[in-house]
Amino acid sequence: MMKTTILLLGIGFLAGCASEPPDAMPEDAMRVLKTSPEVPAPSRAMARRSGQSLAHLGEGHALFMRKCSECHEPRVPENPRDPSWHPTMIGMAWNAGLTKAEESAVVDYLRAAAR
Ligand code: HEC
Repeated sequence: MMKTTILLLGIGFLAGCASEPPDAMPEDAMRVLKTSPEVPAPSRAMARRSGQSLAHLGEGHALFMRKCSECHEPRVPENPRDPSWHPTMIGMAWNAGLTKAEESAVVDYLRAAAR
């Protein structure tokens, strides 16, 4: 797994140095987290399971759809407890220009949405 990632990054690097446009750029070179493009709408069951209010999850979901789909398709982490997720979220919240309050709404929604 680790070797594959390094190999893909290596290919990306070589492609970046070539004079031709890097059309063979490996799409997944930057991805280390398992994510899903499915973005479940907040439900009462989800609120109950997570202990968050439906309104709070609704806010996180709306922010996620609006701000986190600007640069790539929506990506819901399969396991928000994956240690890679925390630094990713910090970077992505910065990318999306989220306030701290908005960031926690998105994180709470993503935790609740993960299965
Ligand atoms: C300004 C553009 C931009 C915005 C806005 C943005 N992202 Fe990203 N995101 C990227 C780029 C670039 C990558 C890395 C390349 C790729 O995989 O597409 C990435 C990768 C990711 C990954 C995969 C990282 C990994 O290590 O596997 C996740 C998950 C992710 N973004 C979630 C989010 C979330 C959640 C938000 C909203 C808070 C968000 N992104 C907003 C640009 C953005």
